[in-house]
Amino acid sequence: MITLKSEREIKGMRESGKVLAGVHLGLRDMIKPGLTAYDIEVFANDYILEHGATPSEKGFEGYKYATCVDVNDEVAHGTPRRNLILKDGDIVKVDMTVNKDGYESDSCWSYAVGTPSQQTKDLMDVTKKSLYLGIAQSVVGNRLGDIGFAIQDFTENKHDYGDVRDLIGHGIQPTMHEKPDVMHYGQKGKGLRLKAGMTITIEPMINEGTWEIADREVKDVNDPWIYYVSADGSWSAQYEHTLAITDDGPKILTSQDAEEDEKMLAWARDYIKKNNY
Ligand code: MF3
Ligand code: CO
Ligand code: CO
Repeated sequence: MITLKSEREIKGMRESGKVLAGVHLGLRDMIKPGLTAYDIEVFANDYILEHGATPSEKGFEGYKYATCVDVNDEVAHGTPRRNLILKDGDIVKVDMTVNKDGYESDSCWSYAVGTPSQQTKDLMDVTKKSLYLGIAQSVVGNRLGDIGFAIQDFTENKHDYGDVRDLIGHGIQPTMHEKPDVMHYGQKGKGLRLKAGMTITIEPMINEGTWEIADREVKDVNDPWIYYVSADGSWSAQYEHTLAITDDGPKILTSQDAEEDEKMLAWARDYIKKNNY
């Protein structure tokens, strides 16, 4: 069942999203060579608690942390390991879900560590743009397939990247994962019709090489875990926002910078028009 949210509920999710965005804004200044994934976890967990919220990933299906931290070829669900030390040129993805006063928000961001290569900058840029294409497609009357199609065409046809199929966006609120499934691939005009009051995440994971992923094990007797990496070892980027679909268009509930969002959405709307998405 897909529940449509009231304005009050969307406001609550936006408050939750502000806390989450605060973590990302802090990380933006903090991430540099020598920092460990566990340092990121400690900062995020403390920040969330200090702002009257709780980390929803902690305790979710046995997960022990507030954050997922994935580096380079790691795609998703990596634990924030103490021995994962960031190096110059790395790309690190930090994904977290926050609950404030019963309202959920979910957002992942990619960060370049130190000085990234042009190749890494391009991967990050295309991945971020693909998220905003998906958001710009999230208008009442469009279908889920319109979101997926735009992301897939942009990343795989216009750029020669791999668009991960096996991990998807989702409805959100009252729990982290609700219906509908939000695929990052698809066909124009296909799938569920979008309605005002739906709250969803869009969270494309884009690989430099193949879209296929594989499992990898954290080999730590005290903290074993299985997470996802790209199947060919190529690097991966991810950006995720939580948004509400409204009669006034998509509203980003995990916004870090409203002006930047507007710029990205203006670019996306223009691109969608020119490419007839
Ligand atoms: N935040 C992730 C998502 O985007 C969920 C991570 S689940 C965890 O859906 F268990 F790994 F934390
Ligand atoms: Co997430
Ligand atoms: Co999510």
